[in-house]
Amino acid sequence: MTLERTFSILKPDAVAANAIGQIYTRLEQSQLKIVASKMLHLSPEQAAGFYAEHEGKSFYERLVSFMCSGPIMVQVLEGENAVTRYREIMGATDPEQAAAGTLRYDYGSIMPANAAHGSDSTESAAREIAYFFTNDELCPR
Ligand code: PPS
Repeated sequence: MTLERTFSILKPDAVAANAIGQIYTRLEQSQLKIVASKMLHLSPEQAAGFYAEHEGKSFYERLVSFMCSGPIMVQVLEGENAVTRYREIMGATDPEQAAAGTLRYDYGSIMPANAAHGSDSTESAAREIAYFFTNDELCPR
């Protein structure tokens, strides 16, 4: 068994849709434990820093602007193969390509409004968790 942590964002569209509870229920029913969680309204600097690896891409400024358009939830999820499992729960990046029953299919709409973010590797997860949480804020169970 590989116990992993991954980093998750419920984006402004999902929070505005009042879907936090529904999505948390899905995560918990999938045996992912929420070991840290908070609501934030990102500044442009915070969002730009988080997505810095995409700077220069055609969608970068639109993505940064969208991520600052309202409150988000950030959380750390822990569980067996958490990185891959959470990405399966989210579905394809573009909601129009996502399979039925995934978070992005059910709560996303038109890019960049795709409802959720998840780390793409354990290395990214460690970096992204550290961007938003101190070690003291993580509560493994
Ligand atoms: S890439 O170019 O392959 O690295 O991009 P990808 O991994 O698919 O996505 C990286 C993040 O950019 C977001 N993205 C977009 N935002 C707005 N508009 C468009 N067209 C677009 N394409 C990709 C995508 O949602 C990823 O962010 P997260 O937060 O992980 O969803």
